[in-house]
Amino acid sequence: MSEQPQEIRREDYKEPDFIVEKVELVFDLDRDVTNVKSRLFMAANPVRGTGKGDKVFLHGEDMKLLSVTLNETRLASSDFTVDQEGLRFKAPGQNFIAELETQISPANNTRLEGLYVSQSAFCTQCEAEGFRRITYFPDRPDVMATYKVTINANKESCPVLLSNGNLIDSGDLDDGRHFAVWEDPFPKPSYLFALVAGDLACVEDSFKTMSGRDVALRIFVEHGNEDRCDYAMDSLKRSMKWDEEVYGLEYDLDLFNIVAVSDFNMGAMENKSLNVFNAKFVLARPDTATDGDYERIESIVAHEYFHNWSGNRVTCRDWFQLSLKEGLTVFRDQEFSADQRSRPVQRIKDVNALRAAQFPEDAGPLAHPVRPDSYMEINNFYTATVYEKGAELIRMMHTLLGPDGYRKGIDLYFDRHDGQAVTCDDFAKAMEDANGIDFSQLKLWYSQAGTPKLSWQGDYDADAKQYRLTISQKTDPTPGQPDKQPLHMPISIGLLGADGSDLVAKTVELTEASQEFIFDGVTEAPVLSFNRGFSAPVNITTDQPDDELVFLMGNDSDAFNRWEAGQKYATRLMLSAIAAYEANGGDVEAAFADEQARVDAFIAAMRATLTNDDLDKAFRADALVLPGEAFLSEQRKPANPEAIYQVRTALRKRIGQALSDDFANTYHQNASNAAFTPDATSAGQRALRATALAYLVASGEDEFADVAVAQYGTADNMTDQMAALSVLNNLDHPGRETALADFEERFANDGVVLDKWFSLQAMSSRDDTLARIKDLMSHPAFTMRNPNKVRALIGAFAMGNPRHFHAKDGSGYAFYADRLIELDDINPQVAARLCAPLGKWAKYDADRADKMKAELNRILAKPEISRDLYEIASKSAA
Ligand code: ARG
Ligand code: ZN
Repeated sequence: MSEQPQEIRREDYKEPDFIVEKVELVFDLDRDVTNVKSRLFMAANPVRGTGKGDKVFLHGEDMKLLSVTLNETRLASSDFTVDQEGLRFKAPGQNFIAELETQISPANNTRLEGLYVSQSAFCTQCEAEGFRRITYFPDRPDVMATYKVTINANKESCPVLLSNGNLIDSGDLDDGRHFAVWEDPFPKPSYLFALVAGDLACVEDSFKTMSGRDVALRIFVEHGNEDRCDYAMDSLKRSMKWDEEVYGLEYDLDLFNIVAVSDFNMGAMENKSLNVFNAKFVLARPDTATDGDYERIESIVAHEYFHNWSGNRVTCRDWFQLSLKEGLTVFRDQEFSADQRSRPVQRIKDVNALRAAQFPEDAGPLAHPVRPDSYMEINNFYTATVYEKGAELIRMMHTLLGPDGYRKGIDLYFDRHDGQAVTCDDFAKAMEDANGIDFSQLKLWYSQAGTPKLSWQGDYDADAKQYRLTISQKTDPTPGQPDKQPLHMPISIGLLGADGSDLVAKTVELTEASQEFIFDGVTEAPVLSFNRGFSAPVNITTDQPDDELVFLMGNDSDAFNRWEAGQKYATRLMLSAIAAYEANGGDVEAAFADEQARVDAFIAAMRATLTNDDLDKAFRADALVLPGEAFLSEQRKPANPEAIYQVRTALRKRIGQALSDDFANTYHQNASNAAFTPDATSAGQRALRATALAYLVASGEDEFADVAVAQYGTADNMTDQMAALSVLNNLDHPGRETALADFEERFANDGVVLDKWFSLQAMSSRDDTLARIKDLMSHPAFTMRNPNKVRALIGAFAMGNPRHFHAKDGSGYAFYADRLIELDDINPQVAARLCAPLGKWAKYDADRADKMKAELNRILAKPEISRDLYEIASKSAA
């Protein structure tokens, strides 16, 4: 970075002066020097009106420009200018053809943006702004063109040549080369362009659409992985069907390709008809993937497929509108998973993810609205706020409109905007117009950052049989937004009678800072179940008495809130124990001394859940897991990672000891002799059994560690094997090293699986963890050039091991900052994404905070820091 990066602001949006109607690209692929020829059919933008000038600007970065030709006349170098941002020249008229020739080096592209090499294959990643690293182009989503792409490559090393749309020609060339020509009839923004070339195996299937068209489905993987594609393929077909049934949306080409690559900055990418995936979100076989992996594969395959409509057919006008496609598509994939599996279990998972990533983001230095107002580097805004909070915003629309009203709005949105690049306001307008309602206050969720805090007060009048509920809301200031307005949100509530049934179940609309709701005909003093199903993404500050929480844990008809009541109880218990631990100089026994009655009541409620065979096993497994260390640190200021770890571990031990007979029964009853199937019911059974094993081991009895060792040795699937290995991982037991060594040997040549092994060790609570991580950096399979490896070892340490990352002597911070500095020269996008944990310094004691800030400043002092890392580090240090 030569100068301080500029902020780009949403309010500065201007329509493009020139558009591109058609693009013809010719690639001459070579690892070191790839030649790219592009022909752009350009026109003055009619919506800008004529006479807007003749200055043409095309984005371009890190390329060698060989020639510029306008209407077949090659420009002299004095007729154009090139700088770090791109190419400028004078338009020869209203309509003209620009031809550009560039050279790029895929093998040296370690940023993995644009055209790069992964293993032996060429692939591309263009979202958000990677296309400008392939050729000069108006690389912005509101410029939509049709593409014709010719790929020339060596036939032996690249038998497979793919791009978007339909294959229209192919054949052999001289010198052992061959070619393929692809044409995509749907105009698209450059970020949806894709090219893949390599020696890949292909698994094929097909899908008949609702109008009876046959679509060929292909998944391309490295040779040898053909038997790991079944689940991704099955997920794809179920996604296609679901989108027809629930949204009335049909696939629009005759071919749909998925390619799995080992080197990928994010999860996956929805390029038109040529989705490119991080291999870890495609490959699964019972002995290599856990139930959690299967679940993620299903949801990511669905997510990328759903983008074909919510993202591709209707795209974003500019990158500030990113949530237009991402929030909507996340909501769609969440609902798909809820329909395929258990709805309440899915909701618990989504809310846990929101609380783990989005709430902290909204409460920290990087807080931004769902539709940001400014950015330095757009890749830094593929955030939990844009994705997950954005999905909650769509969910609230769904709740307020009901399924039919929502569907009317969706239909209007796709009718009205098919083929266009539009804004979040356009989406909300379609919802409003289709339903004749006003969302102006709801739309504040797009522009106002921060998680609202809600409190409530309930009063029961026995004579009038009336329950009055007052709800208040408040949002704390966030960077750049000191004043907040009240938001519009749906709050689903239940009033439970003494027998546990619902006297009232209703969704009210909160719009004011404080508002009263009156319920008549309430025949007895009820217990309130508030914000059922997490109908609004808020924090609730009102403390409900312990006995009401126990009652809700056992009776609420809303399964989400049964779980939620247990989480609240556990949180409250641990927070008071953490305070006592600190007050008693770090004595865990003393921490619970005054809490015995509450701990007993909590354990009794846990036991009731564990042994209630009417409840779904996956739900029971979730309900038995205590809130995590990261969640607890969000509730404490200053957060003391050591105290949190010690108290949570001690409570788990008490539960394990008190319920050891029940857990042992659960463990034995849920053993299965049947062959592994990845369905939700079998997965739930395995999850419950794994939870039982974890508590048995937590109880501290050696015999249970031996059970885990045995399970590792005999399991026929990765889920059970990882369940065993992850409890052994924290122990000083000879079985730990043996199992880890066995795992390493079995999967030495299997990058995706070996990442689990790296992560486990990075997240171990053992005291030798940081030393082990340092050793693992020189493991033959580890490289800073592969984002999955970096995330598995380095990322997992900062995000999944709060106790060692926050070691008092600052060793965790120093190690981590060194890695970010090293990584920034290789892959700035990934370095920036990993930087956020250091930015949480304000949550910790002065000593830790100073050390964290010092590391941020050391990062900022790095010569040639990238725009990506600079933005995150500077905002975090402020
Ligand atoms: N659109 C992709 C998805 O959510 C994310 C790709 C983002 N990549 C990036 N480098 N910003 O499915
Ligand atoms: Zn997406």
